[in-house]
Amino acid sequence: MKILAISGSVRKDSLNTQLLRAAGEFVDEGTSIELFDLADIPFYNGDLDGDTKPASVQALLDAITAADGMLLATPEYNYSVSGVLKNAIDWASRPAFNSVLCGKPTGVMSSSMSTLGGARAQVHLRDILAATLTPVYLAPDFALASAHTAFDENGRLVDEGTRDFLQKYMMGYTHWVARQRA
Ligand SMILES: Cc1cc2nc3c(=O)[nH]c(=O)nc-3n(C[C@H](O)[C@H](O)[C@H](O)COP(=O)(O)O)c2cc1C
Repeated sequence: MKILAISGSVRKDSLNTQLLRAAGEFVDEGTSIELFDLADIPFYNGDLDGDTKPASVQALLDAITAADGMLLATPEYNYSVSGVLKNAIDWASRPAFNSVLCGKPTGVMSSSMSTLGGARAQVHLRDILAATLTPVYLAPDFALASAHTAFDENGRLVDEGTRDFLQKYMMGYTHWVARQRA
């Protein structure tokens, strides 16, 4: 099974990207997690959105199409998702209600330095995905609070309780994706 992991942050040391890498530790053999970097996706512009799309956008659409499921990790910017992630979803959401997002089983996570772990952004993200007919894994939620203290210098999640919970999340999520695809 192929999972496409997309971080809503393109900065080099992104905590959300680190979270997605950590999530990759907790999948069964036979499941792969591939990270897609949104750095080259241009601002949505209807003038560029025709049968031929910018190469980076086409690469995103192809990667979503080829994946059995998506795993999104968003930062929280002013109580919502990052513009980077929203922009990518906007590109992927056309044609409306018949896009590559339609029916693609998707897990939603967040991380932030605050004690809420980006939970408010996750709520917005679920709403946005509803508009694109993207089915979202409902529970449990995974929001990584105080994320700047969560990883060691090798990007390993240090807290055993957090590791256990991420493992539970990933088992539940990947089994749900498998059921959705069956
Ligand atoms: C413009 C901006 C707005 C932010 N707003 C919030 C916020 O509303 N809530 C929050 O918990 N963190 C907020 N933060 C902190 C980010 O969640 C934090 O920097 C996070 O680590 C960014 O994700 P990244 O490490 O994956 O880049 C904000 C950061 C920026 C740059």
